[in-house]
Amino acid sequence: MKMESSRYFRTGIRLALPPGLISGLMVALIIFAWTGNSWYTFLLGFAAGSCVFGTVYYYARLLLGRRLEQIRSIIQRMPYRYNQNARTPQKKAADEVEALLRDAEWSREMISLEFRKMDETENYRKEFIGDISHELKTPIFSVQGYLETLLDGALDDPEVNQLFLTKAMKNVNRLIILTNDLMEISRLETGELKPEFSVIPLNNIIHDVIDSLQYKAEQRNVRIIFEEKETNAFALVDRNQIRQVLVNLIENAIKYNKTDGRVYVSTRFSGADRSKITVSIRDTGIGIEAEDIKRVTERFFRVDKSRSREQGGTGLGLSIVKHILESHKEQLEIESKPGQGSVFRFTLRSADHHADLISA
Ligand SMILES: Nc1ncnc2c1ncn2[C@@H]1O[C@H](COP(=O)(O)OP(=O)(O)O)[C@@H](O)[C@H]1O
Ligand SMILES: [Mg+2]
Repeated sequence: MKMESSRYFRTGIRLALPPGLISGLMVALIIFAWTGNSWYTFLLGFAAGSCVFGTVYYYARLLLGRRLEQIRSIIQRMPYRYNQNARTPQKKAADEVEALLRDAEWSREMISLEFRKMDETENYRKEFIGDISHELKTPIFSVQGYLETLLDGALDDPEVNQLFLTKAMKNVNRLIILTNDLMEISRLETGELKPEFSVIPLNNIIHDVIDSLQYKAEQRNVRIIFEEKETNAFALVDRNQIRQVLVNLIENAIKYNKTDGRVYVSTRFSGADRSKITVSIRDTGIGIEAEDIKRVTERFFRVDKSRSREQGGTGLGLSIVKHILESHKEQLEIESKPGQGSVFRFTLRSADHHADLISA
């Protein structure tokens, strides 16, 4: 915000003008009544008026000038965090007091904006903590239940023993996955986890991810088919983050599939000049209802909570995907037909025009 300043202290002029005029006029009247000489009348009237004007102006400037400037400077130097320069240009203020009033009004707006943002952050924080404690409760109480039963005597039965310990372990593993996902999402949401771009051979990464998920797919009788349309697609991305995106999407396509279902992964160049690579993950699974499609990338949203938990899900996978793609300035597109399957699609920056980087 720029300070309006003028060589003259306009408040002083506005304050000094009426007493200056009145006193000049009064003196002129008296002199005219006394002498009848218009030359004297003008001269003395003018001198008296100027004297009063000058005195009032001088004292007004002395008392108010610097102080008004100081108040303005305090208002303008307040540590506003948002929108500091978004002040709409206004017509010039009539005087310093009016300018101060406008600044005070602007400051009020800035402070209410600050409070609104603080409220939003606070609500987000409360909601996040609420969600976390809710999510942590289920596995913790399960572990507690199994251990209590074992301590209450079930320890003596080797079969129950084995079963309960396995179940307790499964819940502990869930807690580990959950805390890892929570750490990741909070680092993504606070912007702490910035992508480190490098050129990667996209199809190799996809092959790796598919290999690592093959066991899960076989367990569910799901086949993953990589329709590798572009064998030499290089992408300019953060390797680990994009790997994470692929794992989360392909894992979902396996988990929310039917037995004997299929997952099709494909890459193809798109955009002008092959500047982008479109990656799509299509499944023949249970699909998602239209009204839920909008919500699946929300933190902890699951269409079917018990199915998601049963499959070891945390409800954070798609939220993480969305954040990672946003940090790459890309978006996730979802199409789905309930009962038939879903397609998750996103684009990545192709490194086709960065031959120098590829060979490096
Ligand atoms: N390929 C898919 N087919 C059907 N539903 C899906 C698919 N991917 C995700 N979903 C739905 O979106 C929800 C959120 O997904 P995600 O954030 O990965 O959480 P999680 O898999 O841990 O439950 C899932 O619980 C599921 O209901
Ligand atoms: Mg998931």
